[in-house]
Amino acid sequence: MLAASGKVPNVKNFNKDNPMTDWTAGYVSEIGYTYGYYTELNPQRLALPLLAAGIVPPEVETACELGFGQGMSINIHAAASGVAWWGTDFNPSQAGFALELAAASGASAKLFDQAFAEFCARPDLPDFDFIGLHGIWSWISDENRAVIVDFIRSKLKVGGVLYISYNTQPGWATMVPMRELLIAYGEALAAKGQGIVNRIDAALDFADQLFAAQPGFAAANPQVAQRIAKMKEQNRHYLAHEYFNRDWHPMSVAKMAEWLAPAKLGYAASAHYLDHVDAINLSEPQQALLNGIPDIGFRQLVRDFC
Ligand SMILES: C[S@@+](CC[C@H](N)C(=O)[O-])C[C@H]1O[C@@H](n2cnc3c(N)ncnc32)[C@H](O)[C@@H]1O
Repeated sequence: MLAASGKVPNVKNFNKDNPMTDWTAGYVSEIGYTYGYYTELNPQRLALPLLAAGIVPPEVETACELGFGQGMSINIHAAASGVAWWGTDFNPSQAGFALELAAASGASAKLFDQAFAEFCARPDLPDFDFIGLHGIWSWISDENRAVIVDFIRSKLKVGGVLYISYNTQPGWATMVPMRELLIAYGEALAAKGQGIVNRIDAALDFADQLFAAQPGFAAANPQVAQRIAKMKEQNRHYLAHEYFNRDWHPMSVAKMAEWLAPAKLGYAASAHYLDHVDAINLSEPQQALLNGIPDIGFRQLVRDFC
Protein backbone atom coordinates (compact mmCIF):
# COMPACT_ATOMS: atom_id res chain seq x y z
CA MET A 1 0.00 0.00 0.00
CA LEU A 2 1.19 3.54 -0.79
CA ALA A 3 0.35 6.14 1.84
CA ALA A 4 0.36 9.92 1.54
CA SER A 5 -0.61 12.70 3.86
CA GLY A 6 -3.66 14.76 3.00
CA LYS A 7 -7.30 13.81 2.68
CA VAL A 8 -7.90 10.24 3.80
CA PRO A 9 -11.10 8.64 2.48
CA ASN A 10 -13.16 7.04 5.21
CA VAL A 11 -16.03 4.57 5.13
CA LYS A 12 -18.96 6.38 6.68
CA ASN A 13 -22.67 6.08 6.22
CA PHE A 14 -24.95 8.01 3.91
CA ASN A 15 -26.45 9.91 6.89
CA LYS A 16 -23.39 11.61 8.18
CA ASP A 17 -24.09 15.18 7.10
CA ASN A 18 -27.34 15.57 8.96
CA PRO A 19 -26.76 16.76 12.53
CA MET A 20 -30.37 15.84 13.37
CA THR A 21 -29.47 12.16 12.99
CA ASP A 22 -26.63 12.05 15.52
CA TRP A 23 -28.67 9.70 17.70
CA THR A 24 -28.31 7.04 15.00
CA ALA A 25 -24.69 6.05 15.76
CA GLY A 26 -24.20 5.75 12.00
CA TYR A 27 -27.37 3.69 11.45
CA VAL A 28 -29.66 4.64 8.52
CA SER A 29 -32.64 6.60 9.84
CA GLU A 30 -33.98 8.65 6.94
CA ILE A 31 -35.86 5.69 5.50
CA GLY A 32 -37.95 3.19 7.50
CA TYR A 33 -37.30 -0.53 7.56
CA THR A 34 -39.59 -3.10 5.91
CA TYR A 35 -42.65 -4.60 7.65
CA GLY A 36 -41.35 -8.12 8.16
CA TYR A 37 -42.42 -10.93 10.48
CA TYR A 38 -39.66 -13.29 11.63
CA THR A 39 -40.80 -16.63 12.93
CA GLU A 40 -37.44 -17.44 14.56
CA LEU A 41 -38.20 -14.74 17.15
CA ASN A 42 -41.19 -16.77 18.35
CA PRO A 43 -40.31 -18.51 21.66
CA GLN A 44 -42.92 -21.20 20.86
CA ARG A 45 -40.52 -22.49 18.20
CA LEU A 46 -37.53 -22.99 20.50
CA ALA A 47 -38.44 -26.44 21.71
CA LEU A 48 -37.86 -28.41 18.50
CA PRO A 49 -34.28 -27.35 17.65
CA LEU A 50 -33.22 -27.30 21.32
CA LEU A 51 -34.61 -30.77 22.08
CA ALA A 52 -32.98 -32.06 18.89
CA ALA A 53 -29.68 -30.70 20.28
CA GLY A 54 -30.33 -32.41 23.63
CA ILE A 55 -31.05 -29.16 25.49
CA VAL A 56 -34.05 -28.63 27.78
CA PRO A 57 -35.93 -25.53 26.55
CA PRO A 58 -37.03 -22.99 29.15
CA GLU A 59 -40.63 -22.08 29.98
CA VAL A 60 -40.78 -18.58 28.46
CA GLU A 61 -42.69 -16.05 30.56
CA THR A 62 -40.63 -12.91 29.92
CA ALA A 63 -39.04 -12.00 26.59
CA CYS A 64 -37.20 -9.08 25.03
CA GLU A 65 -36.58 -8.02 21.43
CA LEU A 66 -33.75 -5.57 20.76
CA GLY A 67 -34.17 -3.48 17.58
CA PHE A 68 -37.74 -4.55 16.74
CA GLY A 69 -37.91 -2.43 13.54
CA GLN A 70 -41.58 -1.78 12.70
CA GLY A 71 -42.53 -4.11 15.57
CA MET A 72 -44.45 -6.69 13.54
CA SER A 73 -42.88 -9.73 15.21
CA ILE A 74 -42.94 -8.46 18.79
CA ASN A 75 -46.56 -7.35 18.47
CA ILE A 76 -47.74 -10.61 16.93
CA HIS A 77 -45.92 -12.58 19.64
CA ALA A 78 -47.29 -10.37 22.41
CA ALA A 79 -50.85 -10.52 21.07
CA ALA A 80 -50.84 -14.28 20.52
CA SER A 81 -49.28 -15.53 23.76
CA GLY A 82 -49.19 -14.91 27.49
CA VAL A 83 -45.50 -13.93 27.34
CA ALA A 84 -44.60 -10.49 28.83
CA TRP A 85 -42.67 -8.79 26.00
CA TRP A 86 -40.33 -5.83 26.28
CA GLY A 87 -38.50 -4.21 23.39
CA THR A 88 -36.85 -1.17 21.90
CA ASP A 89 -35.96 0.40 18.56
CA PHE A 90 -34.42 3.86 18.53
CA ASN A 91 -36.11 4.95 15.29
CA PRO A 92 -39.05 7.00 16.60
CA SER A 93 -41.26 6.60 13.52
CA GLN A 94 -40.86 2.81 13.66
CA ALA A 95 -41.39 2.73 17.44
CA GLY A 96 -44.48 4.90 16.92
CA PHE A 97 -45.90 2.42 14.40
CA ALA A 98 -45.13 -0.48 16.76
CA LEU A 99 -46.95 1.33 19.60
CA GLU A 100 -49.98 1.85 17.34
CA LEU A 101 -50.06 -1.87 16.61
CA ALA A 102 -49.81 -2.64 20.34
CA ALA A 103 -52.71 -0.30 21.09
CA ALA A 104 -54.80 -1.86 18.31
CA SER A 105 -54.18 -5.41 19.53
CA GLY A 106 -54.58 -4.55 23.20
CA ALA A 107 -51.43 -6.55 24.01
CA SER A 108 -49.42 -5.30 26.95
CA ALA A 109 -46.01 -5.26 25.23
CA LYS A 110 -43.71 -2.63 26.71
CA LEU A 111 -42.21 -0.86 23.70
CA PHE A 112 -39.68 2.00 23.73
CA ASP A 113 -37.77 4.18 21.28
CA GLN A 114 -34.55 4.09 23.30
CA ALA A 115 -31.07 3.32 21.99
CA PHE A 116 -29.70 -0.01 23.24
CA ALA A 117 -27.43 1.63 25.84
CA GLU A 118 -30.33 3.63 27.30
CA PHE A 119 -32.85 0.77 27.22
CA CYS A 120 -30.42 -1.77 28.68
CA ALA A 121 -29.76 0.51 31.65
CA ARG A 122 -33.48 0.77 32.58
CA PRO A 123 -33.96 -0.11 36.25
CA ASP A 124 -37.48 -1.50 35.70
CA LEU A 125 -36.59 -4.41 33.39
CA PRO A 126 -37.34 -7.96 34.56
CA ASP A 127 -34.94 -10.83 33.93
CA PHE A 128 -35.73 -12.58 30.64
CA ASP A 129 -36.20 -16.21 29.66
CA PHE A 130 -35.67 -15.27 26.03
CA ILE A 131 -33.84 -12.41 24.30
CA GLY A 132 -34.06 -12.05 20.52
CA LEU A 133 -32.31 -9.86 17.96
CA HIS A 134 -33.00 -10.18 14.26
CA GLY A 135 -30.97 -8.21 11.73
CA ILE A 136 -29.07 -6.19 14.36
CA TRP A 137 -25.72 -7.71 15.28
CA SER A 138 -23.90 -7.25 11.95
CA TRP A 139 -25.09 -3.68 11.45
CA ILE A 140 -23.97 -1.98 14.68
CA SER A 141 -20.66 -0.82 16.17
CA ASP A 142 -18.40 -2.83 18.48
CA GLU A 143 -19.47 -0.43 21.23
CA ASN A 144 -23.13 -1.36 20.77
CA ARG A 145 -22.27 -5.05 20.50
CA ALA A 146 -20.54 -4.75 23.90
CA VAL A 147 -23.66 -3.08 25.37
CA ILE A 148 -25.77 -5.99 24.13
CA VAL A 149 -23.39 -8.64 25.50
CA ASP A 150 -23.42 -6.92 28.92
CA PHE A 151 -27.21 -6.79 28.80
CA ILE A 152 -27.46 -10.51 28.00
CA ARG A 153 -24.95 -11.29 30.75
CA SER A 154 -27.01 -9.49 33.37
CA LYS A 155 -30.58 -9.92 32.11
CA LEU A 156 -30.86 -13.39 30.54
CA LYS A 157 -31.94 -15.88 33.20
CA VAL A 158 -29.88 -18.99 33.91
CA GLY A 159 -31.21 -21.55 31.42
CA GLY A 160 -32.52 -18.75 29.18
CA VAL A 161 -32.14 -18.63 25.40
CA LEU A 162 -30.71 -16.01 23.06
CA TYR A 163 -31.83 -15.95 19.43
CA ILE A 164 -29.43 -13.90 17.34
CA SER A 165 -29.22 -13.65 13.56
CA TYR A 166 -26.16 -12.26 11.82
CA ASN A 167 -24.42 -12.20 8.46
CA THR A 168 -21.83 -14.92 8.60
CA GLN A 169 -18.39 -15.46 7.18
CA PRO A 170 -17.34 -16.94 4.82
CA GLY A 171 -20.70 -16.62 3.02
CA TRP A 172 -20.60 -12.80 2.92
CA ALA A 173 -16.81 -12.46 2.59
CA THR A 174 -16.66 -11.23 -1.00
CA MET A 175 -19.39 -8.65 -0.40
CA VAL A 176 -17.32 -6.84 2.26
CA PRO A 177 -15.04 -4.96 -0.22
CA MET A 178 -17.95 -4.50 -2.64
CA ARG A 179 -20.14 -2.83 -0.03
CA GLU A 180 -17.17 -0.58 0.95
CA LEU A 181 -16.99 0.47 -2.69
CA LEU A 182 -20.72 1.33 -2.76
CA ILE A 183 -20.36 3.43 0.40
CA ALA A 184 -17.18 5.10 -0.88
CA TYR A 185 -18.96 5.97 -4.14
CA GLY A 186 -21.65 7.72 -2.08
CA GLU A 187 -18.99 9.64 -0.19
CA ALA A 188 -16.98 10.65 -3.24
CA LEU A 189 -19.49 11.11 -6.06
CA ALA A 190 -23.20 10.93 -5.15
CA ALA A 191 -24.82 14.37 -4.93
CA LYS A 192 -25.69 15.23 -1.35
CA GLY A 193 -29.33 16.06 -0.81
CA GLN A 194 -30.69 13.82 -3.56
CA GLY A 195 -32.15 11.37 -1.03
CA ILE A 196 -30.95 7.95 0.01
CA VAL A 197 -32.91 5.99 -2.64
CA ASN A 198 -31.30 7.97 -5.47
CA ARG A 199 -27.88 7.62 -3.89
CA ILE A 200 -28.33 3.85 -3.62
CA ASP A 201 -29.42 3.68 -7.28
CA ALA A 202 -26.42 5.78 -8.35
CA ALA A 203 -24.02 3.55 -6.40
CA LEU A 204 -25.51 0.40 -8.00
CA ASP A 205 -25.25 1.96 -11.48
CA PHE A 206 -21.60 2.66 -10.78
CA ALA A 207 -21.10 -1.00 -9.81
CA ASP A 208 -22.50 -1.95 -13.24
CA GLN A 209 -19.97 0.36 -14.90
CA LEU A 210 -17.22 -1.29 -12.88
CA PHE A 211 -18.30 -4.81 -13.92
CA ALA A 212 -18.54 -3.71 -17.57
CA ALA A 213 -14.83 -2.88 -17.33
CA GLN A 214 -14.22 -6.55 -16.32
CA PRO A 215 -12.14 -5.95 -13.17
CA GLY A 216 -9.96 -8.77 -11.85
CA PHE A 217 -12.01 -8.75 -8.62
CA ALA A 218 -15.14 -9.81 -10.53
CA ALA A 219 -13.25 -12.58 -12.36
CA ALA A 220 -11.94 -13.95 -9.04
CA ASN A 221 -15.35 -13.57 -7.32
CA PRO A 222 -17.99 -14.18 -10.01
CA GLN A 223 -20.89 -14.30 -7.54
CA VAL A 224 -20.43 -10.61 -6.66
CA ALA A 225 -21.88 -9.38 -9.97
CA GLN A 226 -24.87 -11.69 -9.41
CA ARG A 227 -25.38 -10.25 -5.93
CA ILE A 228 -25.33 -6.70 -7.30
CA ALA A 229 -27.82 -7.70 -10.03
CA LYS A 230 -30.09 -9.14 -7.32
CA MET A 231 -29.71 -5.99 -5.20
CA LYS A 232 -31.02 -3.90 -8.10
CA GLU A 233 -34.32 -5.78 -7.86
CA GLN A 234 -34.64 -5.46 -4.08
CA ASN A 235 -36.72 -3.07 -1.98
CA ARG A 236 -34.70 0.14 -1.40
CA HIS A 237 -35.85 0.31 2.25
CA TYR A 238 -34.26 -3.11 2.76
CA LEU A 239 -31.09 -2.17 0.86
CA ALA A 240 -30.63 1.06 2.82
CA HIS A 241 -30.67 -0.83 6.13
CA GLU A 242 -28.73 -3.84 4.86
CA TYR A 243 -25.79 -2.18 3.09
CA PHE A 244 -25.72 1.59 3.60
CA ASN A 245 -25.09 1.91 7.32
CA ARG A 246 -21.74 2.98 8.71
CA ASP A 247 -21.35 -0.49 10.22
CA TRP A 248 -21.58 -3.83 8.44
CA HIS A 249 -19.50 -6.59 9.94
CA PRO A 250 -20.23 -10.15 8.80
CA MET A 251 -18.42 -12.52 11.17
CA SER A 252 -17.82 -16.25 11.51
CA VAL A 253 -19.55 -18.46 14.06
CA ALA A 254 -16.14 -18.72 15.80
CA LYS A 255 -15.99 -14.92 16.21
CA MET A 256 -19.60 -14.95 17.45
CA ALA A 257 -18.59 -17.48 20.09
CA GLU A 258 -15.77 -15.17 21.23
CA TRP A 259 -18.17 -12.24 21.48
CA LEU A 260 -20.80 -14.17 23.43
CA ALA A 261 -18.48 -16.06 25.81
CA PRO A 262 -18.48 -13.24 28.42
CA ALA A 263 -22.27 -13.61 28.61
CA LYS A 264 -21.66 -17.33 29.35
CA LEU A 265 -23.42 -18.41 26.15
CA GLY A 266 -22.52 -21.23 23.82
CA TYR A 267 -23.87 -22.23 20.42
CA ALA A 268 -26.94 -24.47 20.79
CA ALA A 269 -28.59 -24.94 17.38
CA SER A 270 -29.79 -23.20 14.25
CA ALA A 271 -33.20 -21.57 14.74
CA HIS A 272 -33.94 -22.09 11.03
CA TYR A 273 -35.66 -25.48 10.90
CA LEU A 274 -34.56 -26.41 7.38
CA ASP A 275 -30.89 -26.08 8.41
CA HIS A 276 -31.41 -29.28 10.40
CA VAL A 277 -32.14 -31.38 7.33
CA ASP A 278 -28.67 -32.40 6.16
CA ALA A 279 -29.87 -34.09 2.99
CA ILE A 280 -31.11 -30.81 1.48
CA ASN A 281 -28.12 -28.72 2.57
CA LEU A 282 -25.03 -30.91 2.29
CA SER A 283 -23.53 -33.42 -0.11
CA GLU A 284 -22.67 -36.90 1.19
CA PRO A 285 -18.91 -36.17 1.45
CA GLN A 286 -19.74 -32.96 3.35
CA GLN A 287 -22.02 -34.86 5.75
CA ALA A 288 -19.29 -37.47 6.32
CA LEU A 289 -16.71 -34.74 7.00
CA LEU A 290 -19.01 -32.97 9.48
CA ASN A 291 -20.05 -36.20 11.22
CA GLY A 292 -16.39 -36.78 12.07
CA ILE A 293 -16.10 -33.47 13.97
CA PRO A 294 -17.11 -33.80 17.63
CA ASP A 295 -16.78 -30.12 18.62
CA ILE A 296 -20.13 -28.40 17.99
CA GLY A 297 -18.68 -24.92 17.39
CA PHE A 298 -15.98 -26.09 15.00
CA ARG A 299 -18.50 -28.34 13.23
CA GLN A 300 -20.74 -25.31 12.60
CA LEU A 301 -17.76 -23.31 11.29
CA VAL A 302 -16.91 -26.06 8.81
CA ARG A 303 -20.59 -26.38 7.87
CA ASP A 304 -20.67 -22.64 7.07
CA PHE A 305 -17.80 -23.25 4.62
CA CYS A 306 -19.77 -26.10 3.05
C1 LIG B 1 -32.14 -4.16 9.87
S1 LIG B 1 -33.29 -3.48 11.01
C2 LIG B 1 -34.07 -4.94 11.67
C3 LIG B 1 -35.38 -4.61 12.33
C4 LIG B 1 -36.16 -5.82 12.85
N1 LIG B 1 -35.42 -6.56 13.86
C5 LIG B 1 -36.53 -6.69 11.69
O1 LIG B 1 -35.82 -7.68 11.46
O2 LIG B 1 -37.49 -6.34 10.98
C6 LIG B 1 -32.26 -2.94 12.37
C7 LIG B 1 -33.04 -2.13 13.40
O3 LIG B 1 -32.18 -1.82 14.50
C8 LIG B 1 -32.49 -0.51 14.95
N2 LIG B 1 -31.28 -0.02 15.64
C9 LIG B 1 -30.03 0.09 15.11
N3 LIG B 1 -29.17 0.55 16.04
C10 LIG B 1 -29.88 0.71 17.20
C11 LIG B 1 -29.53 1.16 18.51
N4 LIG B 1 -28.28 1.53 18.82
N5 LIG B 1 -30.50 1.19 19.45
C12 LIG B 1 -31.78 0.80 19.15
N6 LIG B 1 -32.17 0.38 17.90
C13 LIG B 1 -31.22 0.33 16.94
C14 LIG B 1 -32.83 0.27 13.68
O4 LIG B 1 -33.63 1.40 13.91
C15 LIG B 1 -33.55 -0.80 12.85
O5 LIG B 1 -34.94 -0.75 13.00
